[in-house]
Amino acid sequence: MSTEELVEAARAAAEGSYSPYSKFRVGAAAVAESGEIFTGANVENAAYPSGSCAEATAINTAVSAGVRVIDTVVTACIDARDVDGAYPCGRCRQIMSEFGVRRVLVTAGQGSEVREHTLDELLPHRFNL
Ligand code: THU
Repeated sequence: MSTEELVEAARAAAEGSYSPYSKFRVGAAAVAESGEIFTGANVENAAYPSGSCAEATAINTAVSAGVRVIDTVVTACIDARDVDGAYPCGRCRQIMSEFGVRRVLVTAGQGSEVREHTLDELLPHRFNL
């Protein structure tokens, strides 16, 4: 899949977001080592910490299907306010680390730029066992 198609998959996933509290819809696409794509959205909860970020939803869906190595994660927030894109939170960066994510693409809605990072840039000196 091309970068454009991956970004489109993440944006489409954001449409499924359940975010009545933040009204900030985020979608993510996780690309397995095999090339298979898994998507997810943020799912909020009245008890705020019980919610899930889009990246965690997508990665956990991939892992639940048997995937153990994920190459790339794309994240897109389609309700960009004054932000250009939703950078993954610290917890999601650590989840990415567990499954070998190498590359992270960050973007917002249609027409916004796509920024590419390595996970090493986003989470240097990461914890591992
Ligand atoms: N959120 C994500 O899903 N991914 C990110 O990268 C940053 C934040 C969600 C969590 C919450 O539902 C909403 O965005 C506002 O924080």
